[in-house]
Amino acid sequence: MEKKVRENTGKNIMDYETVTLDEEANAVVIIDQTLLPNKTELIRLKTAQEIWDAIYLLKVRGAPAIGVAAAFGIYVLAEQVDTEDYEVFYREFVKQKEYLDSARPTAVNLSWALNRMDEVCRGNSHLPVAQLKCRLKEEAAAIKEEDIQVCRKIGEYGLELVKPGDGILTHCNAGQLAACRYGTATAPIYLGQERGYRFRVFADETRPLLQGARLTAYELFSSGVDVTLICDNMSAAVMKNGWINAVFVGCDRVAANGDAANKIGTSVVAAVAKQYHVPFYVCAPTSTIDLATPTGEDIRIEQRPADEVTQMWYKERMAPEGIKVYNPAFDVTDHDLITAIVTEYGVARAPYTESLREIFEKKKEYGN
Ligand code: MRU
Repeated sequence: MEKKVRENTGKNIMDYETVTLDEEANAVVIIDQTLLPNKTELIRLKTAQEIWDAIYLLKVRGAPAIGVAAAFGIYVLAEQVDTEDYEVFYREFVKQKEYLDSARPTAVNLSWALNRMDEVCRGNSHLPVAQLKCRLKEEAAAIKEEDIQVCRKIGEYGLELVKPGDGILTHCNAGQLAACRYGTATAPIYLGQERGYRFRVFADETRPLLQGARLTAYELFSSGVDVTLICDNMSAAVMKNGWINAVFVGCDRVAANGDAANKIGTSVVAAVAKQYHVPFYVCAPTSTIDLATPTGEDIRIEQRPADEVTQMWYKERMAPEGIKVYNPAFDVTDHDLITAIVTEYGVARAPYTESLREIFEKKKEYGN
């Protein structure tokens, strides 16, 4: 059974780690994000089923955080495999890896992180299994640490695209709660906050699961950022009012041609931004850019249950019993609606097929 710990310490939400490893208990520890902002509950995940459920049910969510949770998760499961025989160990590892990978299809970070862990296994098959397990733990910790550095760099590059006092609109939660610190789309906002930029941020509530209201508005507000919550259907109004100088969003998978999958509704914001001449920036760690996927057409979009739309967040049902519901979790923003893609290796602009390839060249040259 996943173990729950209700925190009532008066701590700020920003003081919590989104994902961490409890070595003693051999468990992944996450904040149950489905309970935010009302309750801060840490949960310890030890079994494959608990880790899979936590990802599927969005207790841990956001592309980078899913990757880190999967990396620690596969380590926790590997640690439980009781054998000295590499072949036996690796067979079990692959089985668990494939299971975790099936939790959510759109965010490429899930398979990206699991594949990194797999490479550690395959590259160290000569080591005793006990030592291999240590290498897996180190790799998961490195994935988390890199995420923090990467988000900070995205923040630095993103900050160059705006100026003090700007109005910024964001959709869903690509914040600290979706990563390990800074977030991606929020990284320029947090860095600007550190430097006295006094941005005015508008957070879309993000139907149907309200990540913008429950998570983005919560974390920005808790950090002292000037943030205003709006319904999803208000983005045109605030842009027409002239209140928005830039849109920053995160993403779950960027295809080689720059098409970007992100939370459902993102492409609507992009189209509205084009109409009002507001630059639309996608913040993407290279772990979210998938050059093996040629275009947005090739990105698999997760379909979620109908009750998320009709009743999940309400006291009572808000739609007739038996109504047909279409509930894709993500949409794809066409590359020609995207002003630029902000990565940890710089800002990519159209034509993306070339600029994204150049970003990966830089990563090969300067990355670790
Ligand atoms: O369904 P979610 O909450 O996992 O969707 C999250 C998003 O769409 C985020 O914008 C994306 O993962 C980027 S997080 C840095």
